[in-house]
Amino acid sequence: MKKLIAANWKMNKTIKESVSFVKELNELIKREKNAEVVICPPFTALEALSKELKSQKSENQILLGAQNMHYEENGAFTGEISAAMLMEIGCEYVILGHSERREIFCEHDALINRKVITALKHSLNPILCVGENLEQKKTGKAKEAIGNQLKNCLNGISKNQISKISIAYEPVWAISKGDPNHKAATKEDAENGHSFIRDFLIKMHGRDAAESTRIIYGGSMKPENAKELLSMPNINGGLVGNASLSAKSFAEIIKSVIS
Ligand code: PGA
Repeated sequence: MKKLIAANWKMNKTIKESVSFVKELNELIKREKNAEVVICPPFTALEALSKELKSQKSENQILLGAQNMHYEENGAFTGEISAAMLMEIGCEYVILGHSERREIFCEHDALINRKVITALKHSLNPILCVGENLEQKKTGKAKEAIGNQLKNCLNGISKNQISKISIAYEPVWAISKGDPNHKAATKEDAENGHSFIRDFLIKMHGRDAAESTRIIYGGSMKPENAKELLSMPNINGGLVGNASLSAKSFAEIIKSVIS
C-alpha cells in the first residue's frame, strides 16, 4: 500500500496559478515513486489541471481530486457538483466531511454518509475526514467523537468497499487555518488517533480489510514534521492544506515518504 499525499488547496489558486504549480511540482517529484500524489484544487481549476496532468510525462502520475460533491445524481441543487461531473472531468478522489464543511456549512454525519455512498457508486475514492475539536479533546471525549463520526459516516459501507476509502484523521485543533506556525499534533498523539481508527475498522470489518485501508493525517503537516509523522506505523499518508500551496514545500513532504 503506497502512502497517499493529498493537497487540499481549499479556496486558493486561480486556474493560471494551479497550472503553473503542477508544472513546477512535476519537475520536482518526477522520480519520487514512494507516494501516490493527489491535488484537490478548487472546482474551477479541475478541467485545466486534468488536461495539464494528462500531458505530463512522469514516473509518478499526479492524480486529481475534488474538495466536495453532492450526494444526489443531479437536480435542483443550486451551486452543487455531482459525482458524475467529477468523474467526467478526470477526478479519482474526493474529500468528504472536511471539518470546515462540517463547521461552516453545517454538514452532518448522515449527509456525509450519503456522499460516501454516492462517491463509491461512481468509483470515486473518498477521503473521509474525521477528528475531534478542541472542546472534545479537553473534556476527554476525543475518541467518542471520532468513533461516532466513523460509525455514522461509514454506515452501510461493506467490507469490500472500505479499502477504497482513505480516512483522514484531522484533529480540528491542529488545522493551521493558513498559519504556517500552527502546531501539528505530536507524532505520538497522531499515532494514537490513527491506531484508534485502525482498531475501529478491525472491529467493523476484520483485520485484512482494516489493514488495507489508508488512514492519513491532516493538521499542520509541513516539511519540518512530515518525516516523523509519516514514519509512524499507522500513518499511511497526509492531507496537507497550507504547506501544499507552495510546490517546493509540498514536494519536500512527498520526498519525506520512505518506501
Ligand atoms: P492544514 O490543513 O495543513 O493547513 O492544517 C489541513 C486540512 O484542513 O485538510
